[in-house]
Amino acid sequence: MAAGPALDSPGARASPGASDAAQPGVDTTSAAASINPRLQRLVVGITGASGAVYGVRLLERARTLGVATHLVVTPAGVLNAHHELGLDRNALAALADHHHAVGDVGACIASGSFDTAAMVVAPCSMKTLAAIAHGFGDNLLTRAADVTLKERRRLLLLVRETPLNLAHLRNMTAATEMGAIVFPPLPAFYHRPQTIAELVDDTVERVLALCGIAHAAPKPWAGVRS
Ligand SMILES: Cc1cc2nc3c(=O)[nH]c(=O)nc-3n(C[C@H](O)[C@H](O)[C@H](O)COP(=O)(O)O)c2cc1C
Repeated sequence: MAAGPALDSPGARASPGASDAAQPGVDTTSAAASINPRLQRLVVGITGASGAVYGVRLLERARTLGVATHLVVTPAGVLNAHHELGLDRNALAALADHHHAVGDVGACIASGSFDTAAMVVAPCSMKTLAAIAHGFGDNLLTRAADVTLKERRRLLLLVRETPLNLAHLRNMTAATEMGAIVFPPLPAFYHRPQTIAELVDDTVERVLALCGIAHAAPKPWAGVRS
């Protein structure tokens, strides 16, 4: 395993030098400066569903917008990010301003007193969806989601599975009834994307906009041209 703080290791907390204040390389000019401080904190969960690229691009884009990210990755999320993108847990952690071990239920994001703009689980497995839908906070990711719901903050679940069984559908309904936004990362083709990156970025931009992040810029639909 590569040297450096591991996501699952006890005491894995903030990246060295990271804070919610301005970061080197972060655009702190127009975008960040005009964002309400509350809106600058985003909790990001990555689980073992396919589509780790959504979580990765979300973290990268949040950084360019000056949004402070708190990341928690499940063990299956680490496995899939490595399988799909060749990224290990340290590489994932480096994309966030703060990273937390999935077993660290004492981390700041486990408490509602730690104010955040929103939480996004990208991608969200059916297992984690089930835990969230049933209030089962057995790890830091599901606890943070539970807290987000109880504080009536935005929770976006980028659920990914196909086809869906009745448990999946019922759990999506339950999560929606509690206030979560079920947001399957289904690509839209009406902007005629040329690359997978474009497809992913379209979704990420819409997610950030739904989280209330200032300067997120989803492509507007201008109507069908004849
Ligand atoms: C390559 C791979 C792809 C997977 N894709 C999905 C998926 O798209 N959706 C899903 O719900 N589970 C998927 N799984 C299974 C989950 O990783 C598994 O249920 C795991 O226990 C989820 O745990 P977590 O929610 O704690 O990350 C996949 C597993 C592997 C190894």
